[in-house]
Amino acid sequence: MKASETKATLSFSNGGQNVELPIYKGTMGPDVIDIRKLYAQTGMFTYDPGFMSTASCESAITYIDGDKGELLYRGYPIEQLATNCDFLETCHLLLYGELPNADQKVGFTKLVTNHTMVNEQMQFFLRGFRRDAHPMAIMTGLVGALSAFYHDSTDINNPKHREIAAIRLIAKMPTLVAMAYKYTVGQPYMYPKNELSYAGNFLHMMFATPCEEYKVSPVLERALDRIFILHADHEQNASTSTVRLCGSSGTNPFAAIAAGVACLWGPAHGGANEAALNMLYDIQKAGGVEKIGEFIKQVKDKSSNVKLMGFGHRVYKNYDPRAKLMQETCKEVLGELGLENDPLFKLAMALEKIALEDEYFVSRKLYPNVDFYSGIVQRAIGIPVPLFTAIFALARTVGWIAQLNEMIGDPEYKIGRPRQLFEGSAKRDVQPIAQR
Ligand code: ACO
Repeated sequence: MKASETKATLSFSNGGQNVELPIYKGTMGPDVIDIRKLYAQTGMFTYDPGFMSTASCESAITYIDGDKGELLYRGYPIEQLATNCDFLETCHLLLYGELPNADQKVGFTKLVTNHTMVNEQMQFFLRGFRRDAHPMAIMTGLVGALSAFYHDSTDINNPKHREIAAIRLIAKMPTLVAMAYKYTVGQPYMYPKNELSYAGNFLHMMFATPCEEYKVSPVLERALDRIFILHADHEQNASTSTVRLCGSSGTNPFAAIAAGVACLWGPAHGGANEAALNMLYDIQKAGGVEKIGEFIKQVKDKSSNVKLMGFGHRVYKNYDPRAKLMQETCKEVLGELGLENDPLFKLAMALEKIALEDEYFVSRKLYPNVDFYSGIVQRAIGIPVPLFTAIFALARTVGWIAQLNEMIGDPEYKIGRPRQLFEGSAKRDVQPIAQR
């Protein structure tokens, strides 16, 4: 951390002593004021629920400039990665800090490919779930259960264990998501095929059956790979912070990632892709494009609790760069499948146009986020709506594990332990039951 020559001075209107606080500069982005000694110096905490102004860690992985609408993984713009690299190259970049050269790419791909099968016993564990369980409920369980199957990579303090756990998680997530899907539709699980790409293999495990091969379309394979790249990491969002906080207690990587999966499920986070598509279906059912005005009216009415799903972001106050790439992919996929006139896509485009011109959205800087179009792409590929968030979890696993390993490798890391502003009852005595 590079200390700035400028210091922040905290003064108190009641004449209390001023406190000088160091300021640190990152490579890019806002400087941070170091408040670690504030409590020792003043007996006060800072108050920032929702982390509106709090940097929770130092990180060298992902950088977002929300005003510009810029996203960089290890310094590389997301647009360049999505256009010139595949998902496994992106995984290498996030995990080790650099894009692989040709030899490293071969070695890394082989390593991940060799770990795609899961312990055969996992399928019996899966059988305990109801067939109609939500895939994210299943994924939370399955990922957590990995720690019961891979005892040789659960020591978070051992760098070798961390590395092998990372590879296992990246390799096995597609297998687990596909198994969760096959289980709900009552089809046999399909084992991974090593000659296929990461995305191609996932499509195979999802859509092939023992009776029929699935011919992987290069356009759909590339689209899915792009979905994975765009979702691979996103700085200190809710699920990543959950993984870091969970891992800070020294728990094993599988348990920490399971916590991330659980957090991602919420509709304000990863669950928005499912919610966005369901919203489009609802508008469609109600009458389609003509009903957009009525829907927008509801969204603007605060008492309705209706949100335009796939719009708005805590950090982006401009167009989410991933949404632009996803819109491109959406057009490609619909073209490939002969669905250029897909009514849901048309509805999404019309909704976006109206929202981007509406004063409510303009003044609040609400733009489409990555989830606005990803659902349409996934649906066109044939992925059922409840599986969308599980696919997000699959892709985000590399980000979670890279962030977790970065934290554990940092000699300054401590268990995360926020404090509170206590507003409950002051100390009081228990009364005998007859007097309560
Ligand atoms: N529809 C309607 N109004 C919205 C929306 C929306 N999608 N998003 C924000 N607003 C409004 C808020 O009501 C608030 O209005 P106010 O100032 O009049 O009270 C204002 O815009 C600011 O929004 P906040 O909720 O304070 O912003 P916050 O940073 O807390 O929330 C969030 C960000 C959760 C993403 C929010 O925009 C949202 O709920 N969007 C819909 C869900 C979604 O698409 N989530 C995906 C996020 S991206 C991802 O996880 C990959």
